[in-house]
Amino acid sequence: MISVRKMQAVDVEAVSQIEAAVFSQPWSVQGFLDALSLENTIFLVAEENKKILGYVGMYVSLDEGEITNVAVTPEARRRGVGQSLIEKIKKEAEANSVLQMILEVRVSNDPAIRLYQRNGFLNCGIRKGFYDFPKEDAYIMIYRKDVELLTKDFH
Ligand SMILES: CC(C)(COP(=O)(O)OP(=O)(O)OC[C@H]1O[C@@H](n2cnc3c(N)ncnc32)[C@H](O)[C@@H]1OP(=O)(O)O)[C@@H](O)C(=O)NCCC(=O)NCCS
Repeated sequence: MISVRKMQAVDVEAVSQIEAAVFSQPWSVQGFLDALSLENTIFLVAEENKKILGYVGMYVSLDEGEITNVAVTPEARRRGVGQSLIEKIKKEAEANSVLQMILEVRVSNDPAIRLYQRNGFLNCGIRKGFYDFPKEDAYIMIYRKDVELLTKDFH
């Protein structure tokens, strides 16, 4: 069974390995450790049989959360791991009085865009040339629970 819990320092080695396998400009081990040491961050891991399959990370400032990392190991994709992580970070956001979550995503990254859209994130703009390796624009996507509740009936 897949479960989602808070990331701890002992998880960072496994998390960094997924990060390095998935992204062209990966966060380092130290980057994750630094994030975990801050009070205004929420980092979660998804695991199954004690194996880490994915993670999500968010920086909180006042009532806004910025999601900085989302990844699932390639072998575990399309099994609901990403969905479980997003559901849990939404609950954590609410518990921490975060009213709005924002993230950037490569415009070509259909799997991630669909994951965010099915969880109520809306496409709110473009950052031109935001990414390197390869150079690409980013969509800015925003989630607000009040907007999700308002628009639910229209779908
Ligand atoms: C995006 C990512 C986290 C999705 O994780 P996942 O565990 O495979 O996602 P899930 O199995 O929970 O899928 C949930 C929903 O997301 C969407 N989705 C996920 N992968 C998809 C794909 N390859 N194509 C289309 N939709 C996809 C679907 O709506 C899916 O629901 P469904 O399976 O009922 O159709 C994963 O593909 C990943 O790690 N990608 C590389 C890292 C990355 O791009 N991170 C985002 C940076 S902004």
